[in-house]
Amino acid sequence: MRVRGAACRTIWLGAGGLDVEIIDQTRLPHAFVTRTLRSLDDALDAIRSMRVRGAPLIGVTAAYGLCLALRADASDAALDAACRALLATRPTAVNLRWALEAMRAALRDAPQPARAALAYARAAQLADEDAAACRAIGEHGVALIEAARAGRSGRERVHVLTHCNAGWLAAVDWGTALAPVYVAHERGIPLHVYVDETRPRNQGASLTAWELLEHGVPHTVIADNAGGHLMRTGAVDLCLVGSDRTTARGDVCNKIGTYLKALAARDNGVPFYVALPHSSIDWALEDGLAEIPIEARDAREVSHVWGRDAEGQVREVALLPEGSPAANPAFDVTPARLVTALVTERGVCDASREGLFGLYPERSSQAGRARGEDAASASART
Ligand code: MRU
Repeated sequence: MRVRGAACRTIWLGAGGLDVEIIDQTRLPHAFVTRTLRSLDDALDAIRSMRVRGAPLIGVTAAYGLCLALRADASDAALDAACRALLATRPTAVNLRWALEAMRAALRDAPQPARAALAYARAAQLADEDAAACRAIGEHGVALIEAARAGRSGRERVHVLTHCNAGWLAAVDWGTALAPVYVAHERGIPLHVYVDETRPRNQGASLTAWELLEHGVPHTVIADNAGGHLMRTGAVDLCLVGSDRTTARGDVCNKIGTYLKALAARDNGVPFYVALPHSSIDWALEDGLAEIPIEARDAREVSHVWGRDAEGQVREVALLPEGSPAANPAFDVTPARLVTALVTERGVCDASREGLFGLYPERSSQAGRARGEDAASASART
């Protein structure tokens, strides 16, 4: 995608082909700053501190973090330790585990002297595949925007509501939920995006708004609590969100607040679509609420906010009375029954085992094995 008119990805290799460059997303929207990761510790810090965030980007950053670790020490012990450390950075997005497993599979049988080079090659492949998957999500998802346009009368633009940031900043390029928006914009389909600010970290207000503005996509930032009212008054044609982990039966774990939007959408007959690449599907899980680990983040993200003051200084200010406790569950789970459809790089499907396994038939035996049963008994249960 473009920043000030120039093509840009969220992660790339520096001039020497070894250091890893990222956009420091904690500085947006007030400053566009890139940062160099030179070591495993740099990568761990970038993921933990959310300089990089968003499920697909976390996965690709972990893959490059492994490259940085192997550059310093390519032993089995170093590989294991790096994987453990990277896996522990953030618990909810399954893309992290998926990327590390893909890297391990590529490196498992490689002799130590060849490991670092192989790792860089595989990480670059994962990055390119993510960008291609997201572009394909855009191609499939644009049909849903076109359908919403055909189905409504009177209003000129299609109005999309999105939550958190599932745009190109959350992936390597294009994004998941925003990929159909960018493809629609590219094709001249008139549309407008309602952007949930997404408390407590405000990824909608600071990241989604920034990237839509850079691309000239009409949008309006709304308080998280406004979505229900807008849906009731007919202002929203469809909701499009991303996912940090989707189970084999189609339960969707995404940024906290997604579930409330799905409830409001159901009550008002607004289609609720979830866009995700295959790397966000956890084929071993069924019941998202019972089985997905929900990240509990620092209460300070709730009790304080960052913003730019009238003098241009970016500052943190307190919101709560001193002494009031705060809690910060970072994700929630929307049950499959509230999801109108999933949009993947292979097409659009029902949020169900049948839907997902229909698009990814090769997964049915693996999912069965992962759950300690054969594929036939797995599908017979549903
Ligand atoms: O905590 P974050 O900013 O990493 O959470 C990001 C989200 O929840 C996105 O909606 C999700 O990763 C969608 S995939 C692009």
